[in-house]
Amino acid sequence: MARATSVYVCSGCGHETARWAGRCTGCGEWNTLVETRTETGGGSALAGSPRAQAVRPVALAEVERREHERLSTGIGELDSVLGGGIVPGSLVLIGGAPGIGKSTLTTMVLANLMAAGRRTLYVSAEESAAQIRLRAERLRNGHALRIPVIGETDLDAVLATIERERPEVCVVDSVQTLHCRDLSSGAGSVAQVREVAARVMEVAKRLGTAALLVGHVTKDGALAGPRVLEHIVDCVLQFEGERERTYRTVRAVKNRFGSTDEAGVFEMRDHGLVEVLDASARFVGEATRAPGSVVVCAMEGSRPLLVEVQALVSSSELVPPRRVAAGLDRNRLALVLAVLGRHGGIGLGAADVFVNVVGGVRVDEPGVDLAVALAVASAAKRVALHGTGGSRPLACFGELGLTGELRTVAHADRRRAEAKKFGLVPVVEPESVGTLREALSSVLGPARAQAA
Ligand code: TYD
Ligand code: MG
Repeated sequence: MARATSVYVCSGCGHETARWAGRCTGCGEWNTLVETRTETGGGSALAGSPRAQAVRPVALAEVERREHERLSTGIGELDSVLGGGIVPGSLVLIGGAPGIGKSTLTTMVLANLMAAGRRTLYVSAEESAAQIRLRAERLRNGHALRIPVIGETDLDAVLATIERERPEVCVVDSVQTLHCRDLSSGAGSVAQVREVAARVMEVAKRLGTAALLVGHVTKDGALAGPRVLEHIVDCVLQFEGERERTYRTVRAVKNRFGSTDEAGVFEMRDHGLVEVLDASARFVGEATRAPGSVVVCAMEGSRPLLVEVQALVSSSELVPPRRVAAGLDRNRLALVLAVLGRHGGIGLGAADVFVNVVGGVRVDEPGVDLAVALAVASAAKRVALHGTGGSRPLACFGELGLTGELRTVAHADRRRAEAKKFGLVPVVEPESVGTLREALSSVLGPARAQAA
């Protein structure tokens, strides 16, 4: 008979102890021990135990080949991020900050599945059924109101419901608010989150139910419960953007059934999320062309995306001055500012610098370096940058090396082609300029680039 017990595992080094302690005796770190449930069988788990049966390995060629059937979510952008739809029996984790639209997206998916005649279940441990109804009413999709929903925080009750209802797709909103009675720690703790996911997975795989787990991310972007779920689930989708703004992107950061190259762009409207298929056109159309603005040819997965980068430079009264980055990594901004100072002759040691990728889009790739550098230089010199003819914004891409050189980035041809499509020529990029200094003098003019 299997027996459930708790052990405390260090999230840093994996050291296990039977009792909780403030400090891990394995690695010496503080506050890293988390409660974890284990199933212990009656016999010894040691190798050579008489209970263990040897298993006959088979050659890979003999393994039955299985094409995964897919359930369409009815949302093209989401299907492509998933690699063609939801795989039955799979576990998908959808992470995102509160208010980004996770519940809206999952409700829309279930409504579309209901329309396609699939069995669904919406488990909400976060909101009451009445609140979910209000959201569903906004979606203007009659099928949304047919979704079976339960408002329940007890994990055992939820699993029993799934067993009885046997949905083909089930949403669990959210993994951090479900609670397993067998663990003493509170809902949302690492042990609880891990237990909830593992138990849902067991039921989901057994019944062939696909489970969409909603997870909140903390401010710094980590899925709460230090990424503990990423290795358990089949697919991790990240929902990004800013709550106050309308654009959101969904991308796969892990996908056992597809690539992690795809990303979808959405807009939050009055009646739910709408796919944005012409994101580049929108962002280029909205670009300000004022000093401090350039357009970066970025890659959203395998798709090129033109998006405006804005910078503001102002004299600072603070020591150290402020460095604020929205939509890109702070360390990337710090690196670009250091290279600008050292190799571009634009020192900003006494200035506050703000950089923002417009529209709530996040650009997490080295190709954005040059755009950040040019936007900051343009803001510092108060010179607006333009492409040919002076009417269109300046487009650029490229990585900055620590010695001031420009480095090539992946998919240069696709980035260039996207810029050309919107008449943004010429593109400032590693193919045409070799160093940051050359790039600065080509866009600011040699005299201004020199007068640092
Ligand atoms: P929600 O899906 O509840 O976010 P999450 O589950 O990630 O916390 O929705 C987030 C915001 O979207 C909320 O402030 C209300 C807004 N919203 C719309 O603007 N239009 C809509 O049609 C819906 C359903 C929500
Ligand atoms: Mg929600």
